[in-house]
Amino acid sequence: MKNSYTKPNLKTKYFEDLFNSLPSMENKSVAITGTTSGLGFYAAESVAKLGARVLLLNRPSDRAETSYALLNDSCSNGDLHKVDCDLQSFESVKSASLRVSEICADGLDVLCNNAGIMALKDKATIDGFDIQMQTNHLSHFLLTKACMPLLDKASQLRNEARIVNHTSVARFATKKLIEKYLEKKGGRLGGDGGSMILGTGRWQRYAQTKFANAAFTACLHEKLQNKNSRIKAMVAHPGLAETDLQATTVEDGGMNRFFTKYLMKFGQSEKDGTLGLLRCIADPKINSGSIVGPGLKGAKGKAKSFPLESFYDNDEAKNLLWTKSCEAIGENFDI
Ligand SMILES: NC(=O)c1ccc[n+]([C@@H]2O[C@H](COP(=O)([O-])OP(=O)(O)OC[C@H]3O[C@@H](n4cnc5c(N)ncnc54)[C@H](OP(=O)(O)O)[C@@H]3O)[C@@H](O)[C@H]2O)c1
Repeated sequence: MKNSYTKPNLKTKYFEDLFNSLPSMENKSVAITGTTSGLGFYAAESVAKLGARVLLLNRPSDRAETSYALLNDSCSNGDLHKVDCDLQSFESVKSASLRVSEICADGLDVLCNNAGIMALKDKATIDGFDIQMQTNHLSHFLLTKACMPLLDKASQLRNEARIVNHTSVARFATKKLIEKYLEKKGGRLGGDGGSMILGTGRWQRYAQTKFANAAFTACLHEKLQNKNSRIKAMVAHPGLAETDLQATTVEDGGMNRFFTKYLMKFGQSEKDGTLGLLRCIADPKINSGSIVGPGLKGAKGKAKSFPLESFYDNDEAKNLLWTKSCEAIGENFDI
Protein backbone atom coordinates (compact mmCIF):
# COMPACT_ATOMS: atom_id res chain seq x y z
CA MET A 1 0.00 0.00 0.00
CA LYS A 2 1.21 3.50 -0.79
CA ASN A 3 2.16 5.94 2.00
CA SER A 4 2.44 9.27 0.25
CA TYR A 5 0.10 10.85 2.80
CA THR A 6 -1.18 9.59 6.15
CA LYS A 7 -4.57 8.01 5.67
CA PRO A 8 -7.08 8.85 8.40
CA ASN A 9 -7.80 5.13 8.92
CA LEU A 10 -11.60 5.35 8.96
CA LYS A 11 -13.79 2.74 10.66
CA THR A 12 -15.69 0.23 8.52
CA LYS A 13 -19.41 0.41 9.31
CA TYR A 14 -21.55 -1.36 6.73
CA PHE A 15 -19.39 -3.86 4.87
CA GLU A 16 -20.02 -7.00 6.98
CA ASP A 17 -23.82 -6.67 6.84
CA LEU A 18 -23.80 -6.25 3.06
CA PHE A 19 -21.31 -9.09 2.54
CA ASN A 20 -23.39 -11.43 4.72
CA SER A 21 -26.52 -10.63 2.69
CA LEU A 22 -25.00 -11.70 -0.65
CA PRO A 23 -25.72 -15.11 -2.21
CA SER A 24 -23.12 -17.74 -3.02
CA MET A 25 -21.18 -17.18 -6.25
CA GLU A 26 -20.12 -20.80 -6.66
CA ASN A 27 -19.81 -21.92 -10.31
CA LYS A 28 -19.48 -18.29 -11.43
CA SER A 29 -16.46 -16.56 -12.93
CA VAL A 30 -15.69 -12.93 -12.16
CA ALA A 31 -12.96 -10.88 -13.87
CA ILE A 32 -11.90 -7.67 -12.10
CA THR A 33 -9.39 -5.07 -13.29
CA GLY A 34 -7.16 -3.32 -10.77
CA THR A 35 -7.07 -5.61 -7.73
CA THR A 36 -3.64 -4.63 -6.35
CA SER A 37 -5.21 -2.28 -3.79
CA GLY A 38 -8.34 -0.44 -2.78
CA LEU A 39 -11.82 -1.26 -4.01
CA GLY A 40 -10.76 -3.87 -6.55
CA PHE A 41 -8.77 -5.73 -3.91
CA TYR A 42 -11.72 -5.97 -1.51
CA ALA A 43 -14.15 -6.78 -4.31
CA ALA A 44 -11.87 -9.65 -5.42
CA GLU A 45 -11.47 -10.93 -1.87
CA SER A 46 -15.23 -10.81 -1.28
CA VAL A 47 -16.28 -12.64 -4.43
CA ALA A 48 -13.57 -15.26 -3.87
CA LYS A 49 -14.98 -15.83 -0.37
CA LEU A 50 -18.44 -16.14 -1.92
CA GLY A 51 -17.08 -19.04 -3.98
CA ALA A 52 -16.47 -17.50 -7.40
CA ARG A 53 -13.54 -18.21 -9.68
CA VAL A 54 -11.79 -14.82 -9.72
CA LEU A 55 -9.59 -13.46 -12.50
CA LEU A 56 -7.28 -10.67 -11.33
CA LEU A 57 -6.43 -8.39 -14.27
CA ASN A 58 -3.41 -6.28 -13.34
CA ARG A 59 -0.34 -4.85 -14.97
CA PRO A 60 2.73 -6.88 -13.93
CA SER A 61 4.36 -5.34 -10.83
CA ASP A 62 5.46 -6.05 -7.26
CA ARG A 63 2.08 -4.72 -6.16
CA ALA A 64 0.36 -7.34 -8.34
CA GLU A 65 2.49 -10.13 -6.81
CA THR A 66 2.06 -8.93 -3.22
CA SER A 67 -1.71 -8.49 -3.53
CA TYR A 68 -2.02 -11.93 -5.16
CA ALA A 69 -0.19 -13.48 -2.20
CA LEU A 70 -2.40 -11.56 0.26
CA LEU A 71 -5.56 -12.72 -1.50
CA ASN A 72 -4.38 -16.32 -1.51
CA ASP A 73 -3.73 -16.05 2.24
CA SER A 74 -7.10 -14.54 3.08
CA CYS A 75 -9.12 -16.82 0.74
CA SER A 76 -7.58 -20.20 1.55
CA ASN A 77 -9.89 -22.14 -0.81
CA GLY A 78 -10.04 -19.33 -3.36
CA ASP A 79 -9.88 -20.08 -7.09
CA LEU A 80 -7.71 -17.09 -8.07
CA HIS A 81 -6.10 -16.52 -11.46
CA LYS A 82 -3.55 -13.82 -12.31
CA VAL A 83 -3.99 -12.28 -15.76
CA ASP A 84 -1.48 -9.70 -17.04
CA CYS A 85 -3.36 -6.66 -18.29
CA ASP A 86 -1.88 -3.20 -18.67
CA LEU A 87 -4.75 -0.85 -19.43
CA GLN A 88 -2.30 1.65 -20.92
CA SER A 89 -1.77 -0.70 -23.86
CA PHE A 90 -4.43 -2.04 -26.24
CA GLU A 91 -2.12 -4.93 -27.17
CA SER A 92 -1.90 -5.95 -23.52
CA VAL A 93 -5.70 -5.79 -23.18
CA LYS A 94 -6.14 -8.01 -26.24
CA SER A 95 -3.67 -10.58 -24.84
CA ALA A 96 -5.47 -10.46 -21.49
CA SER A 97 -8.83 -11.16 -23.12
CA LEU A 98 -7.37 -14.26 -24.81
CA ARG A 99 -6.16 -15.49 -21.42
CA VAL A 100 -9.61 -14.82 -19.93
CA SER A 101 -11.14 -16.93 -22.74
CA GLU A 102 -8.77 -19.81 -21.94
CA ILE A 103 -9.59 -19.75 -18.23
CA CYS A 104 -13.34 -19.22 -18.72
CA ALA A 105 -14.22 -21.68 -21.48
CA ASP A 106 -17.57 -22.05 -19.67
CA GLY A 107 -18.32 -18.33 -19.91
CA LEU A 108 -17.69 -15.19 -17.87
CA ASP A 109 -20.45 -14.24 -15.42
CA VAL A 110 -19.18 -10.83 -14.38
CA LEU A 111 -16.75 -8.40 -15.97
CA CYS A 112 -15.92 -5.67 -13.45
CA ASN A 113 -14.19 -2.70 -15.07
CA ASN A 114 -12.83 -1.24 -11.85
CA ALA A 115 -9.23 -0.05 -12.34
CA GLY A 116 -8.58 3.65 -12.48
CA ILE A 117 -6.18 6.52 -11.99
CA MET A 118 -7.11 10.04 -10.95
CA ALA A 119 -5.90 13.47 -12.00
CA LEU A 120 -2.42 12.44 -13.14
CA LYS A 121 -0.07 14.45 -15.34
CA ASP A 122 -0.83 15.13 -19.01
CA LYS A 123 0.83 12.10 -20.58
CA ALA A 124 0.18 9.87 -23.58
CA THR A 125 -0.03 6.08 -23.52
CA ILE A 126 1.92 3.95 -25.97
CA ASP A 127 -1.22 4.14 -28.16
CA GLY A 128 -1.24 7.96 -28.05
CA PHE A 129 -4.28 8.54 -25.82
CA ASP A 130 -4.52 10.36 -22.49
CA ILE A 131 -3.29 7.98 -19.76
CA GLN A 132 -6.44 8.58 -17.73
CA MET A 133 -8.91 8.09 -20.60
CA GLN A 134 -7.22 4.94 -21.87
CA THR A 135 -6.82 3.39 -18.40
CA ASN A 136 -10.23 4.33 -17.05
CA HIS A 137 -12.42 3.97 -20.13
CA LEU A 138 -10.97 3.11 -23.57
CA SER A 139 -9.20 -0.09 -22.52
CA HIS A 140 -12.28 -1.18 -20.59
CA PHE A 141 -14.35 -0.55 -23.72
CA LEU A 142 -11.98 -2.84 -25.67
CA LEU A 143 -11.92 -5.46 -22.90
CA THR A 144 -15.72 -5.49 -22.75
CA LYS A 145 -15.95 -5.95 -26.50
CA ALA A 146 -13.45 -8.83 -26.37
CA CYS A 147 -15.26 -10.50 -23.45
CA MET A 148 -18.76 -10.16 -24.93
CA PRO A 149 -18.91 -13.73 -26.37
CA LEU A 150 -17.91 -15.10 -22.94
CA LEU A 151 -20.50 -12.96 -21.17
CA ASP A 152 -23.09 -14.08 -23.66
CA LYS A 153 -22.19 -17.72 -23.06
CA ALA A 154 -22.51 -17.37 -19.27
CA SER A 155 -25.84 -15.57 -19.68
CA GLN A 156 -27.18 -18.46 -21.81
CA LEU A 157 -25.88 -21.17 -19.48
CA ARG A 158 -26.64 -19.54 -16.15
CA ASN A 159 -29.43 -17.10 -16.98
CA GLU A 160 -27.56 -13.81 -16.58
CA ALA A 161 -24.18 -12.09 -16.82
CA ARG A 162 -23.12 -8.62 -15.71
CA ILE A 163 -20.87 -5.80 -16.85
CA VAL A 164 -20.01 -3.55 -13.94
CA ASN A 165 -18.36 -0.17 -14.51
CA HIS A 166 -16.96 2.20 -11.90
CA THR A 167 -17.66 5.92 -11.95
CA SER A 168 -17.29 8.70 -9.38
CA VAL A 169 -18.99 11.86 -8.15
CA ALA A 170 -16.41 13.45 -10.48
CA ARG A 171 -18.86 12.63 -13.31
CA PHE A 172 -20.68 15.80 -12.23
CA ALA A 173 -17.53 17.88 -12.78
CA THR A 174 -18.23 18.13 -16.50
CA LYS A 175 -21.46 19.01 -18.27
CA LYS A 176 -20.78 16.87 -21.31
CA LEU A 177 -18.34 14.55 -22.99
CA ILE A 178 -15.84 16.41 -25.17
CA GLU A 179 -14.45 14.69 -28.29
CA LYS A 180 -10.80 15.63 -27.89
CA TYR A 181 -10.41 13.70 -24.64
CA LEU A 182 -11.20 10.46 -26.52
CA GLU A 183 -8.79 11.23 -29.36
CA LYS A 184 -5.07 10.51 -29.89
CA LYS A 185 -4.12 13.76 -28.17
CA GLY A 186 -2.48 12.38 -25.04
CA GLY A 187 0.01 14.85 -23.56
CA ARG A 188 -1.76 17.79 -25.22
CA LEU A 189 -4.92 17.94 -23.15
CA GLY A 190 -4.54 20.77 -20.68
CA GLY A 191 -1.13 20.32 -19.08
CA ASP A 192 -0.04 19.10 -15.67
CA GLY A 193 -1.85 21.76 -13.63
CA GLY A 194 -5.50 22.06 -12.79
CA SER A 195 -7.96 22.63 -9.97
CA MET A 196 -10.16 20.03 -8.31
CA ILE A 197 -12.65 22.74 -7.28
CA LEU A 198 -12.86 24.35 -10.74
CA GLY A 199 -12.57 21.01 -12.58
CA THR A 200 -9.77 22.11 -14.87
CA GLY A 201 -6.61 20.54 -16.37
CA ARG A 202 -5.82 17.13 -14.89
CA TRP A 203 -9.14 17.17 -12.97
CA GLN A 204 -11.13 17.85 -16.15
CA ARG A 205 -9.45 14.85 -17.78
CA TYR A 206 -10.47 12.69 -14.79
CA ALA A 207 -14.05 14.03 -14.91
CA GLN A 208 -14.26 13.16 -18.61
CA THR A 209 -13.23 9.56 -17.87
CA LYS A 210 -15.77 9.15 -15.10
CA PHE A 211 -18.51 10.68 -17.27
CA ALA A 212 -17.42 8.15 -19.94
CA ASN A 213 -17.75 5.23 -17.48
CA ALA A 214 -21.35 6.23 -16.76
CA ALA A 215 -22.23 6.95 -20.42
CA PHE A 216 -20.70 3.60 -21.44
CA THR A 217 -23.02 1.88 -18.98
CA ALA A 218 -26.00 3.74 -20.47
CA CYS A 219 -24.98 2.63 -23.99
CA LEU A 220 -24.54 -0.99 -22.95
CA HIS A 221 -27.83 -1.06 -21.08
CA GLU A 222 -29.74 0.32 -24.07
CA LYS A 223 -28.07 -1.91 -26.67
CA LEU A 224 -28.33 -5.09 -24.59
CA GLN A 225 -31.97 -4.48 -23.67
CA ASN A 226 -32.84 -3.82 -27.33
CA LYS A 227 -31.39 -7.26 -28.15
CA ASN A 228 -33.30 -8.92 -25.29
CA SER A 229 -29.91 -9.97 -23.94
CA ARG A 230 -29.59 -11.49 -20.48
CA ILE A 231 -26.41 -9.47 -19.94
CA LYS A 232 -26.96 -6.60 -17.52
CA ALA A 233 -25.00 -3.34 -17.36
CA MET A 234 -24.67 -1.35 -14.17
CA VAL A 235 -22.31 1.22 -12.70
CA ALA A 236 -21.11 1.76 -9.14
CA HIS A 237 -19.67 4.83 -7.43
CA PRO A 238 -17.87 4.51 -4.09
CA GLY A 239 -18.34 8.01 -2.68
CA LEU A 240 -15.02 9.02 -1.16
CA ALA A 241 -12.97 6.00 -0.04
CA GLU A 242 -9.47 6.07 1.46
CA THR A 243 -7.70 3.88 -1.08
CA ASP A 244 -4.39 4.32 -2.89
CA LEU A 245 -6.16 6.46 -5.50
CA GLN A 246 -5.50 9.68 -3.59
CA ALA A 247 -1.99 8.56 -2.56
CA THR A 248 -1.04 8.09 -6.22
CA THR A 249 -2.38 11.55 -7.08
CA VAL A 250 -0.47 13.12 -4.15
CA GLU A 251 2.73 11.43 -5.38
CA ASP A 252 2.11 12.80 -8.88
CA GLY A 253 1.70 16.37 -7.58
CA GLY A 254 -2.06 16.54 -8.16
CA MET A 255 -3.18 16.90 -4.54
CA ASN A 256 -1.66 18.47 -1.44
CA ARG A 257 -0.98 15.81 1.22
CA PHE A 258 -2.36 17.88 4.15
CA PHE A 259 -5.50 18.87 2.25
CA THR A 260 -5.95 15.22 1.21
CA LYS A 261 -5.78 13.99 4.79
CA TYR A 262 -8.32 16.63 5.83
CA LEU A 263 -10.62 15.81 2.88
CA MET A 264 -10.55 12.07 3.49
CA LYS A 265 -11.98 12.53 7.00
CA PHE A 266 -15.30 13.14 5.22
CA GLY A 267 -15.02 9.81 3.39
CA GLN A 268 -15.23 6.14 4.29
CA SER A 269 -13.03 3.08 4.66
CA GLU A 270 -11.86 1.04 1.68
CA LYS A 271 -14.23 -1.80 2.59
CA ASP A 272 -17.26 0.49 2.82
CA GLY A 273 -16.20 2.05 -0.49
CA THR A 274 -16.60 -1.40 -2.06
CA LEU A 275 -20.33 -1.66 -1.27
CA GLY A 276 -21.61 -0.30 -4.59
CA LEU A 277 -19.26 -2.47 -6.60
CA LEU A 278 -20.20 -5.58 -4.63
CA ARG A 279 -23.93 -4.97 -5.00
CA CYS A 280 -23.50 -4.54 -8.76
CA ILE A 281 -21.45 -7.75 -8.98
CA ALA A 282 -23.46 -10.01 -6.71
CA ASP A 283 -26.76 -8.59 -5.47
CA PRO A 284 -29.77 -10.12 -7.29
CA LYS A 285 -31.81 -6.99 -6.50
CA ILE A 286 -29.68 -4.74 -8.74
CA ASN A 287 -31.15 -4.35 -12.22
CA SER A 288 -29.53 -3.44 -15.51
CA GLY A 289 -29.44 0.34 -15.99
CA SER A 290 -28.70 1.17 -12.36
CA ILE A 291 -26.16 3.37 -10.66
CA VAL A 292 -25.30 2.17 -7.16
CA GLY A 293 -23.59 4.24 -4.49
CA PRO A 294 -24.02 6.17 -1.22
CA GLY A 295 -26.68 8.45 -2.71
CA LEU A 296 -26.02 9.97 -6.12
CA LYS A 297 -23.63 12.57 -4.73
CA GLY A 298 -22.83 11.08 -1.31
CA ALA A 299 -19.33 10.61 0.10
CA LYS A 300 -20.18 7.75 2.48
CA GLY A 301 -22.89 5.38 3.64
CA LYS A 302 -24.82 2.32 2.49
CA ALA A 303 -24.92 1.76 -1.26
CA LYS A 304 -28.36 2.34 -2.79
CA SER A 305 -29.61 1.81 -6.31
CA PHE A 306 -30.84 4.62 -8.60
CA PRO A 307 -31.77 4.85 -12.31
CA LEU A 308 -29.05 6.15 -14.63
CA GLU A 309 -29.03 9.95 -14.87
CA SER A 310 -30.14 11.88 -17.95
CA PHE A 311 -27.05 14.13 -18.18
CA TYR A 312 -25.09 11.17 -19.65
CA ASP A 313 -27.97 8.83 -20.53
CA ASN A 314 -29.04 10.77 -23.64
CA ASP A 315 -28.57 10.26 -27.39
CA GLU A 316 -25.91 12.93 -27.82
CA ALA A 317 -23.64 11.58 -25.06
CA LYS A 318 -24.22 7.94 -25.97
CA ASN A 319 -23.59 8.42 -29.71
CA LEU A 320 -20.43 10.42 -29.10
CA LEU A 321 -19.12 7.92 -26.54
CA TRP A 322 -19.70 4.92 -28.78
CA THR A 323 -18.41 6.46 -32.02
CA LYS A 324 -15.24 7.93 -30.51
CA SER A 325 -14.49 4.79 -28.47
CA CYS A 326 -14.78 2.55 -31.57
CA GLU A 327 -12.57 5.00 -33.45
CA ALA A 328 -9.98 4.87 -30.64
CA ILE A 329 -9.77 1.07 -30.46
CA GLY A 330 -9.87 0.85 -34.27
CA GLU A 331 -12.74 -1.65 -34.29
CA ASN A 332 -16.51 -1.66 -34.48
CA PHE A 333 -18.35 -2.94 -31.43
CA ASP A 334 -21.69 -4.33 -32.54
CA ILE A 335 -24.20 -5.58 -30.02
N1 LIG B 1 -11.30 5.88 -3.81
C1 LIG B 1 -12.22 6.77 -4.13
O1 LIG B 1 -12.59 7.66 -3.35
C2 LIG B 1 -12.87 6.69 -5.47
C3 LIG B 1 -13.87 7.63 -5.75
C4 LIG B 1 -14.52 7.57 -6.96
C5 LIG B 1 -14.20 6.59 -7.88
N2 LIG B 1 -13.21 5.69 -7.59
C6 LIG B 1 -12.87 4.69 -8.62
O2 LIG B 1 -12.61 3.43 -8.04
C7 LIG B 1 -11.77 2.69 -8.92
C8 LIG B 1 -10.73 1.96 -8.09
O3 LIG B 1 -9.87 2.88 -7.49
P1 LIG B 1 -9.37 2.76 -5.97
O4 LIG B 1 -9.98 3.88 -5.25
O5 LIG B 1 -9.53 1.40 -5.47
O6 LIG B 1 -7.83 3.14 -6.16
P2 LIG B 1 -6.46 2.31 -6.04
O7 LIG B 1 -6.32 1.73 -4.68
O8 LIG B 1 -5.40 3.24 -6.51
O9 LIG B 1 -6.65 1.13 -7.08
C9 LIG B 1 -6.58 1.36 -8.46
C10 LIG B 1 -6.27 0.08 -9.19
O10 LIG B 1 -6.18 0.36 -10.59
C11 LIG B 1 -5.01 -0.25 -11.07
N3 LIG B 1 -4.46 0.36 -12.28
C12 LIG B 1 -4.03 1.62 -12.47
N4 LIG B 1 -3.49 1.76 -13.70
C13 LIG B 1 -3.58 0.55 -14.31
C14 LIG B 1 -3.18 0.04 -15.56
N5 LIG B 1 -2.56 0.78 -16.47
N6 LIG B 1 -3.45 -1.27 -15.83
C15 LIG B 1 -4.05 -2.07 -14.94
N7 LIG B 1 -4.43 -1.64 -13.71
C16 LIG B 1 -4.19 -0.36 -13.40
C17 LIG B 1 -4.02 -0.12 -9.92
O11 LIG B 1 -2.96 -1.04 -10.14
P3 LIG B 1 -1.38 -0.66 -10.03
O12 LIG B 1 -0.93 -1.27 -8.74
O13 LIG B 1 -0.78 -1.34 -11.22
O14 LIG B 1 -1.25 0.82 -10.08
C18 LIG B 1 -4.93 -0.51 -8.76
O15 LIG B 1 -5.04 -1.91 -8.68
C19 LIG B 1 -11.22 3.70 -9.95
O16 LIG B 1 -11.87 3.51 -11.18
C20 LIG B 1 -11.59 5.04 -9.35
O17 LIG B 1 -11.81 6.03 -10.32
C21 LIG B 1 -12.55 5.72 -6.40
